[in-house]
Amino acid sequence: MKTSITELLNIKYPIFQGGMAWVADGDLAGAVSNAGGLGIIGGGNAPKEVVKANIDRVKAITDKPFGVNIMLLSPFADDIVDLVIEEGVKVVTTGAGNPGKYMERLHAAGITVIPVVPSVALAKRMEKLGVDAVIAEGMEAGGHIGKLTTMTLVRQVVDAVTIPVIGAGGVADGRGAAAVFMLGAEAVQVGTRFVVATESNAHPAFKERILKAKDIDSVVSASVVGHPVRALKNKLSTAYSQAEKDFLAGKKTAEEIEELGAGALKNAVVDGDVVNGSVMAGQIAGLVSKEESCEDILKDIYYGAANVIRQEALRWADVPE
Ligand SMILES: Cc1cc2nc3c(=O)[nH]c(=O)nc-3n(C[C@H](O)[C@H](O)[C@H](O)COP(=O)(O)O)c2cc1C
Repeated sequence: MKTSITELLNIKYPIFQGGMAWVADGDLAGAVSNAGGLGIIGGGNAPKEVVKANIDRVKAITDKPFGVNIMLLSPFADDIVDLVIEEGVKVVTTGAGNPGKYMERLHAAGITVIPVVPSVALAKRMEKLGVDAVIAEGMEAGGHIGKLTTMTLVRQVVDAVTIPVIGAGGVADGRGAAAVFMLGAEAVQVGTRFVVATESNAHPAFKERILKAKDIDSVVSASVVGHPVRALKNKLSTAYSQAEKDFLAGKKTAEEIEELGAGALKNAVVDGDVVNGSVMAGQIAGLVSKEESCEDILKDIYYGAANVIRQEALRWADVPE
């Protein structure tokens, strides 16, 4: 089974492991790439040396293609662009901004550039810039999100651009992946389910919260200041919600709300403080109930999608054209 994305990137499965700050290190990305998906290191706000160590780790695990997610708002974004070029990284995904000023150098180095987009307008703008594909990420996803759902966004982005579209947000198994392929995607990106992979170094308490989560356990915080983020409910999300009310009443500034998020993801992922930290996870956490290897996760999604698509095709086979 081939798609324009498996061909473009030379990978076996049309499945990306999302580049997640603090979670997606060299161990996780290396395991995913080695098993045939596209592992992506989450650059986050990390300095060059940290990302370099993760790239070294992936290279020690596998010689298959992998990616680096560059957060364009990071103070180290310029350094990370230099680094991926120096290190011969094959794929860069970008978040939180416009990769325009880096495009020429990344392409000259033979790097495939794939921004994450939350809307049709941004997808079109990225296509004009010359990016190679886009990841259309719905608001079901964990982490920083846009306003549209995966169902509505992927469908409309597929219609609006001619480059390949990767669908993200709410995909954790074969059925979810099959649905996104039906919308016209050429690959899927999965975050939340890979957080609990055996090879993920996320703190056991962080994994436990995802494994135990129900469908309604995530909330969106900080929308009022324009940076909505989805995470599981806890003391931090309650504090956010109070601060947002205070902001609307003119009793708190935008900076004070942003402050709440500072260092919060690291607190939860690295130190295991799932009460005061940010337990970023998607709505699909309710379906994620087992810690498994990256290889098993990839196979479950891939063969699960194939089975459900085959069954569905059979049901429809007798309907006249
Ligand atoms: C803990 C966590 C951290 C994330 N950090 C980033 C990030 O740094 N950059 C980014 O582009 N996406 C980030 N994401 C989004 C994922 O890359 C992915 O697109 C998303 O999780 C897919 O939706 P799902 O959670 O429903 O699988 C993060 C997601 C999670 C759960």
